Amino acid sequence: MWGGRFAEGPAAVMREINASLPFDKRLWKQDIAGSIAHARMLGAQGILDMQDVDAIIGGLEAIQAEYEAGDLPSDLDLEDIHMATECRLAEKIGAVAGRLHTARSRNDQVATDFRLFVRDCVDEVDASLAALQRALVARADEHAASVMPGFTHLQSAQPVTLGHHLMAYYEMIGRDRSRFADARARMNLSPLGAAALAGTGFPTDRHMTAAALGFDGPTRNSLDSVSDRDFALDYLMAATQCSLHLSRLAEEFIIWASQPFGFVSLPDAYSTGSSIMPQKRNPDAAELVRGHAGRIMGCMTSLSVTMKGLPLAYSKDMQDDKPPLFEAHDLLGLSITAMAGMVETTRFRTDRMRALAESGFATATDLADWLVREADVPFREAHHITGRAVKAAEEAGVSLDKLPLNTLKAIDPRIDERVYAVLTVDASVASRRSFGGTAPDQVRARIAEAQAALAMETGQ
Ligand code: ARG
Repeated sequence: MWGGRFAEGPAAVMREINASLPFDKRLWKQDIAGSIAHARMLGAQGILDMQDVDAIIGGLEAIQAEYEAGDLPSDLDLEDIHMATECRLAEKIGAVAGRLHTARSRNDQVATDFRLFVRDCVDEVDASLAALQRALVARADEHAASVMPGFTHLQSAQPVTLGHHLMAYYEMIGRDRSRFADARARMNLSPLGAAALAGTGFPTDRHMTAAALGFDGPTRNSLDSVSDRDFALDYLMAATQCSLHLSRLAEEFIIWASQPFGFVSLPDAYSTGSSIMPQKRNPDAAELVRGHAGRIMGCMTSLSVTMKGLPLAYSKDMQDDKPPLFEAHDLLGLSITAMAGMVETTRFRTDRMRALAESGFATATDLADWLVREADVPFREAHHITGRAVKAAEEAGVSLDKLPLNTLKAIDPRIDERVYAVLTVDASVASRRSFGGTAPDQVRARIAEAQAALAMETGQ
């Protein structure tokens, strides 16, 4: 392809280090779409004869059918998917294939293909995140009033509902979707036609190719067009943050599935047994989601370091943009799907959650708040009185609502029998009706909003 100036072929190692075909063949669909759009534009602008354009497009469509059938190129001498497809086109339609590369370069070609690919990745991720959100909302709806301990420092803090807890992840995933949507809007400009780095002297129409490929318009600076990989970094950064969220949910499932917690029993389909300990049921899928977050962040770091300090415009370092993006996308897709499956099918042991919520003095704040409200005690003093009540309950081995009234009155005479109404975990959660609080009616209101938002997306 570029042999004119070269007397000798490449060293064997050069052939190997230079070739991106083993991984970039994954861009075949985008490469053919970009070439067809380019060829049509060359014809429309009178840069190529329509007859040649028809031959080129016919050839590209035939190659597309071969690729679709799984017959992808692998010869390293072909370097990359762009050259491999052009070579195949020459085999099919002869010398006219050589006209396709008029007014473009592999630099704008690869930038275009990769943007199209990452745009598809964003759309796929968004669809699977929406499915995860639907699963979270469905389980939250089922458990809007199921009491569980809420934690800070992983210490029992105040009772919450399981529905409220699951809806926290709905919110996180919503922010992830919004980050991916931002990235998509920003990346949706076409670099095609920037050529090698400086634009072209041919009378091309970059607006036409941009529209044909579903872009909002052409990029505005040819140097930036061929050297920009922000779209891939935007994807990887959004993917990293999303994977952090997934790893947190995965970690909850891992903790919840442990025997001391026993909050969930993970479905067989997402667990494995141990080869030597027959009683075991390991939360492997959740552990792998937790682990994959590290690899996804590694991919983001990898491309960041590749891009760091690169002068304009294209440098071959940038060929290394694809493996981390592909890897992160595959890992993220698996993680989201596995997480959605776990959320959908896990059995929540609400009896166990309730028992632990009741055992951790989780309603201590409710006692303190009651003293403030009903006996006009300053909060700091109420906090102190409550601390003594917790101590008494601990010593008696009972929960706060099981302490006899005379014990409570001995701690502070302003306490009366009305206090029992706030000491149960159900009363505690029901009282937290501030906007976004854990009261079941608040949780149900948020669930209804989420259901409406999700239904709107699917047009139901
Ligand atoms: N395989 C290359 C890549 O992925 C395509 C661009 C090559 N351009 C060049 N001038 N060598 O980055």
